[in-house]
Amino acid sequence: DWNSENVIETQVARIREQVGSARVISALSGGVDSAVSTALVHKAVGDQLTAVFVDHGLLRKGEREQVEKDYVASTGVRLITVDASETFLGHLAGVTDPEQKRKIIGREFIRVFEKVQRELVAEAEASGGEPVKFLVQGTLYPDVVESGGGAGTANIKSHHNVGGLPEDLEFELVEPLRTLFKDEVRAVGRELGIPEAIVSRQPFPGPGLGIRIIGEVTRERLEILREADAIARSELTAAGLDGEIWQCPVVLLADVRSVGVQGDGRTYGHPIVLRPVSSEDAMTADWTRVPFEVLARISNRITNEVREVNRVVLDVTSKPPGTIEWE
Ligand code: XMP
Repeated sequence: DWNSENVIETQVARIREQVGSARVISALSGGVDSAVSTALVHKAVGDQLTAVFVDHGLLRKGEREQVEKDYVASTGVRLITVDASETFLGHLAGVTDPEQKRKIIGREFIRVFEKVQRELVAEAEASGGEPVKFLVQGTLYPDVVESGGGAGTANIKSHHNVGGLPEDLEFELVEPLRTLFKDEVRAVGRELGIPEAIVSRQPFPGPGLGIRIIGEVTRERLEILREADAIARSELTAAGLDGEIWQCPVVLLADVRSVGVQGDGRTYGHPIVLRPVSSEDAMTADWTRVPFEVLARISNRITNEVREVNRVVLDVTSKPPGTIEWE
């Protein structure tokens, strides 16, 4: 019967057989699937694998460090981080349309990743070493069944994720999670010693905070949202609600201002929206009845600690008609 040690053993053998002595590239996103598939491949072929982490500047607080420090420390994976935030923010300047944002972020991600890929291939050629032949993908069983479609809302929003990398004919895919469901992937990840914060991470969209700022994406706005999001996440976790909540997007209404009062001064700041949802598969969702005391604590902390925010509001819309993300 199923246990994660068996899965690891079987997959390690299978990967070794598939890859031989060739080199392998993997894209890490900070999420569970890419973290576990990459760690499995590393366990099988060690430093034949190079992992690439593209920082698009739209990550949440601490996510890059989590990958660069904790993940690397626990797995020993050789990692290249590309700081591409200048490029992404440059292309996003002046853009407010949600689909436009998604397309730009998806396109730039592929561009940056392909550039690193070409560099690694050239490096292997120049050194006369083994050729780079394989690309790791964190495809899960439900993705296979859905015949390659991402989450089921691709017709409503153009999804971008690390699984959506270009299907490069030069590379053969290594997909060690193809037979697994999400909870099995998590069990395998724990068995491999991947940090719990990554293994139990809730879904986070590929376009990141870029689609949680309603309006133009700028560095300043990202900084505001990052702080508010970190507060909401830590309070929800402290309240023991992570099991009940599927995910909780925190959204900055960057083009909206409202009047407030703080101390004896007038403020004119931005609202932050909390969108806690409960769901089975993200196809439908209900808003989570987070206890009032927890909401109060989040609201107090955000308005006290994030200067530009003077109002916190709660999204009480189910899906449908609302989607989980605002863009
Ligand atoms: P919506 O907003 O369509 O979101 O109700 C459904 C689920 O998908 C996630 N999501 C994405 N995930 N790339 C991803 O990998 C994307 O472009 C993307 N857009 C939305 C969302 O967070 C929710 O879990």
